[in-house]
Amino acid sequence: MKKVRKVVFPVAGLGTRFLPATKASPKEMLTVVDKPLIQYAVEEAIAAGITDLVFVTGRSKRAIEDHFDKAFELETELERKGKTDMLDVVRNILPRGVNCVYIRQSEALGLGHAVLCAREVVGDEPFAVVLADDLLDANPAVMKQMTDAYDYYRCSVLAVQEVPLEDSRSYGIVAARPIGERVEQVSGIVEKPSPKEAPSNLAVVGRYILTPRIFHHLAESKPGAGGEIQLTDGIAALLSEEQILAYRYQGTRYDCGSKLGYLKATTVFGQRHPDVGTEYRAYLATLDTAETA
Ligand code: G1P
Repeated sequence: MKKVRKVVFPVAGLGTRFLPATKASPKEMLTVVDKPLIQYAVEEAIAAGITDLVFVTGRSKRAIEDHFDKAFELETELERKGKTDMLDVVRNILPRGVNCVYIRQSEALGLGHAVLCAREVVGDEPFAVVLADDLLDANPAVMKQMTDAYDYYRCSVLAVQEVPLEDSRSYGIVAARPIGERVEQVSGIVEKPSPKEAPSNLAVVGRYILTPRIFHHLAESKPGAGGEIQLTDGIAALLSEEQILAYRYQGTRYDCGSKLGYLKATTVFGQRHPDVGTEYRAYLATLDTAETA
């Protein structure tokens, strides 16, 4: 029985919604309080027992590789100054036994194409896909909830949540029927349909567990919505051969690909941060008073 050991992080996207912040640095390195989005994503995957991290990167994404690499000068400096707390933080970004692989997606041909770039590295085993700009706040981690579902059902699993129908154009939308608590059997999936064409209001968020057969279908895929090779279209083709499940995860999603979602995440995570949470809450309370005065 194969376990999910590998995760693909498609991180080649340009992040135009956050310009100018993302002109020279990757959108995945935007920080929520003191941690970049990609690190939250990596921690979620590791919490699910995943040990092999495959980053599909593009130009101006070097900061991601540096972030997960050893920072020799920084560590020496922190050691010299006796800043052991910070030294631990820096050293423990990746636990022992976790490996990183970087693949370059030289053209931005779409999410499906990015996943296809990982084919050789993933090989013939089930794997996860995590989109770092969907920050999922949950306990247990959403990817852990999904690998548990995978271990039980042994088929591809897509994380879903209900969205207002008028937002259907922002998501892959599934047609599905419930078969268990939180679990639905997918019978169709469409990328970014209009509200009229949407088969439901159940949207795919950026977490997937896929069987390796998906690569065959991605390799055959023609450009779809937005002229890009869509992961959704590959999944739709996979449906003709295999069962696919939609999983209503337990937790809160912050769409950190949008400014408002990012600000919401910062506010929530800031208020519970051990260093600044108490003072930040007090500060926010003064703003409320100022508003009502
Ligand atoms: C991608 C997928 C879409 C999915 C969404 C979740 O879209 O193509 O199916 O619902 O992520 O965040 P993007 O947000 O990259 O346009």
